[in-house]
Amino acid sequence: MNDTVLVVDFGAQYAQLIARRVREAHVFSEIVPSSISAAEVRKKSPGAIILSGGPKSVYAVPAPLLDPAIYDLGIPILGICYGAQLMAQQLGGEVANTGVGEYGRTALTREGPTVLMTNWPTTTTTWMSHGDAIAKAPEGFVVTGSTPEAPVAVMEDVARRLHAVQFHPEVGHTEHGQDLLVNFLHHVAVIPPAWTNSSIIEDQVAAIRQQVGSEKVLCALSGGVDSAVAAALVTKAVGAQLTCVFVDTGLMRKNEGDQIEETFTRQFGVDLVHVKAQDRFFGALAGVTDPEAKRKVIGELFIREFEDVARDLAKDGDGPRFLVQGTLYPDVIESGSGHAANIKSHHNVGGLPEDLTFELVEPLRTLFKDEVRRVGEELGLPAEIVWRQPFPGPGLGVRIIGEVTRERAEILRNADYVVVDEIKKAGLYRELWQSFAVLPAVRTVGVMGDGRTYAYPIIIRAVTSDDAMTADWARLPYEVIESIANRLIREVEGVNRVALDVTSKPPGTIEWE
Ligand code: XMP
Repeated sequence: MNDTVLVVDFGAQYAQLIARRVREAHVFSEIVPSSISAAEVRKKSPGAIILSGGPKSVYAVPAPLLDPAIYDLGIPILGICYGAQLMAQQLGGEVANTGVGEYGRTALTREGPTVLMTNWPTTTTTWMSHGDAIAKAPEGFVVTGSTPEAPVAVMEDVARRLHAVQFHPEVGHTEHGQDLLVNFLHHVAVIPPAWTNSSIIEDQVAAIRQQVGSEKVLCALSGGVDSAVAAALVTKAVGAQLTCVFVDTGLMRKNEGDQIEETFTRQFGVDLVHVKAQDRFFGALAGVTDPEAKRKVIGELFIREFEDVARDLAKDGDGPRFLVQGTLYPDVIESGSGHAANIKSHHNVGGLPEDLTFELVEPLRTLFKDEVRRVGEELGLPAEIVWRQPFPGPGLGVRIIGEVTRERAEILRNADYVVVDEIKKAGLYRELWQSFAVLPAVRTVGVMGDGRTYAYPIIIRAVTSDDAMTADWARLPYEVIESIANRLIREVEGVNRVALDVTSKPPGTIEWE
């Protein structure tokens, strides 16, 4: 048995949250589909299994099931919500379609001693979301918790190390929810809390060394968190074999290029190729106004610039064979399901030139974004890089509505700096998913001093979000909006009007194009 916890996914968002909470308890977790067989589980030899909640009823046809042989492997299992009901049903208990569900805050009463809820008060607030309820626990189980509508809200078979809870311990609204997970992981499954930033770094450094041997490695830096942390990890592993490429498209945020250069060249001593490609990007974008066409121009030119560097490095016949990618765990999980309509053709800087024959190095493949940030901090990357809000691959190009010109990019870059600076001063930067400026290429009339002005408006866009799939417009305090607006007009030449975007996603998207 190893120290990994398998989180069996019975439906969308629950599994990821559970996996993150497990990791917060310093135990590595991996999400697996509910179709996993007992043989596959045995091969993985996990230290524990958690069955997630899910949107279905155990009476749905078809309802996602678990290979029942998994219960007999002797591996500790915790069933949550749907996972709890399924465990009850598959092991001979009863699940009732009561018609009276519990949704939201629900008081749970502890019934006697229980290892999962050691030190819990007799009554605790839990978060529920269920229509069905376990009516009778299977043989061998003791009921250790109940709620008004769920007589079997917690059940445990201590001898077989099978435990189940009807509520959601992974959500913040459940008091002591994390304690319950910790009790299960550390005391029932007896997995040591050994998954820490330094163990992640150590493991990845060893894996990178093993993968690349003495070959050369190439990495595209975008200015974003993921590519920076991936590059820092590779630097720690095989720094002398690494070349980083930073393509300045002219569409980056203020000081982004300098900061990358400062960090990677001076602090980490990495060989960095800083391609100043602004002229070529503005040239290629002249006259292009359609959003998808712009994205295409920027994406393709980026790849061409990148290929040029790769070819240059390969001139002496000893070019890089490996390419670093900052792929994160949610991308890995999601690309397994393959769906989603193409709303915008996203391009990731560092996105692959397909005909280049690199082998990928993906040291962040198992990590969630918050873990990537903590690893970045531990590796000594500056807070400005580690805590930077997401930025689209095509950069300011998709925040200038209309033709992208050098002049407009400069105005927008200065405006963006002001927005972010004021948001930071107000202490809101980390709380917001994104906060930035948009420049629509129209001009409006204004009056400043004694004169008429005819200049661009700037739109303030600030959103809260967990994953960018949906977002709400941020209710910025009036004083913050006011100081942003004042500074934009005073400090950014070419701007004479400020507006605020109050559109959520959906119906809007976060970026304007
Ligand atoms: P939208 O505008 O679709 O954006 O609501 C969702 C999130 O994705 C970011 N974004 C991109 N990221 N390449 C990227 O790497 C892209 O082409 C791209 N376009 C949008 C956007 O900033 C937001 O966080």
